[in-house]
Amino acid sequence: MSTDQIENTGAQPIHPLEPYKSIEVDELRSRIQAVRDQLGDELLILGHHYQQDEVIEFSDLRGDSYKLSQMAADSTACKTIVFCGVHFMAETADILANRPEKMAERDGRRTTVILPDMAAGCSMADMAGIKQVEAAWEDMSDVIDTEKVIPVTYINSAASLKAFCGRHGGIVCTSSNAQAVLEWAYERGNRVFFFPDQHLGRNTALKMGITEEQMPVWDPFQLELGGNTEHALENSKVILWKGHCSVHQMFRAEHVDGFRKQHPGIKILVHPECPREVNDLADVSGSTGKIIETVKNSPAGTKWAIGTELHLVNRLKAEYPEQEIHFLSPVVCMCATMYRIDLQHLCWTLENLRDGAAVNVIAVDEETTKWSLIALERMLAVR
Ligand code: 13P
Ligand code: SF4
Repeated sequence: MSTDQIENTGAQPIHPLEPYKSIEVDELRSRIQAVRDQLGDELLILGHHYQQDEVIEFSDLRGDSYKLSQMAADSTACKTIVFCGVHFMAETADILANRPEKMAERDGRRTTVILPDMAAGCSMADMAGIKQVEAAWEDMSDVIDTEKVIPVTYINSAASLKAFCGRHGGIVCTSSNAQAVLEWAYERGNRVFFFPDQHLGRNTALKMGITEEQMPVWDPFQLELGGNTEHALENSKVILWKGHCSVHQMFRAEHVDGFRKQHPGIKILVHPECPREVNDLADVSGSTGKIIETVKNSPAGTKWAIGTELHLVNRLKAEYPEQEIHFLSPVVCMCATMYRIDLQHLCWTLENLRDGAAVNVIAVDEETTKWSLIALERMLAVR
């Protein structure tokens, strides 16, 4: 994550982080549990499915990006959400948990949102900065009517991009509702500007019958029209930002071919952040939540090669031993930033919180919150 996105609006820690790094795992576990017992319903720990098992164990609720946003939006009893995920998820939780009607229900009290390690960012989110997106919008307006372009940001983006969408009649999507969101967009405009993940945008638009030729890719590092001709933009249905997930882009078509040859009858299950060639060959493509549901609902003996983050695939292997589950890539594809959330950081933030010093607080500024909430609420209303 770029340093200008890192804010730490919390108190100074009472307990410094350093000593936690040498505490044994068993002790960390019992100290974390002690804080959970003490704070009870005041504390809600949310965990994304890509978290390591030892962190997931302490999550009150776990989910994919969409589910976690809903959980934050619906949270009532808690005073603090400790978000075991990445920065954009904690920002989204802050915006949704502190929207005006929720604050009114709590007599104006804010829910504090904490990210245990501020360096838990997302390399994909960092591929689209607000200044770059604003510059692209202005540039493309020389060629196409941006009044009729609906900006759609994947939830894996900074709050400032969600606010951009809110301001310009746009919306947020997740990997579980991308098609419904694009349909919403085409009811309101004739083109979509989709950022930051080109693969989710492309894979979703292809399913809707939009052709690759109608999807120019906007490269923010190209000086002229993101590297596109005027003709390409005029004929576009979706303008895709040149961004990707460094984890999911590691899966390749040859991995699929290899598994099909070696394991006849195997099914390929992938996340739509994987490149087109992989999605086209897969039997099932869907969000993290859909991947879990698909395995859960399959009979014993089903063989899978799964293309998504390693911690989740290993957990599925452990939870469904009666199925044969393989990791789709021969190399380790894990999200290094999600992995930054560990028991040391969790224990450190919880003990500081218990002792009155909320550290690593994520608080989105008022103006950004106002506009990004509009784009997020549009998303939550789409079915
Ligand atoms: P979902 O949680 O929407 O499946 O997205 C996966 C991901 O990359 C989260 O960062
Ligand atoms: Fe970002 Fe990819 Fe990690 Fe998700 S898995 S947080 S998109 S880098």
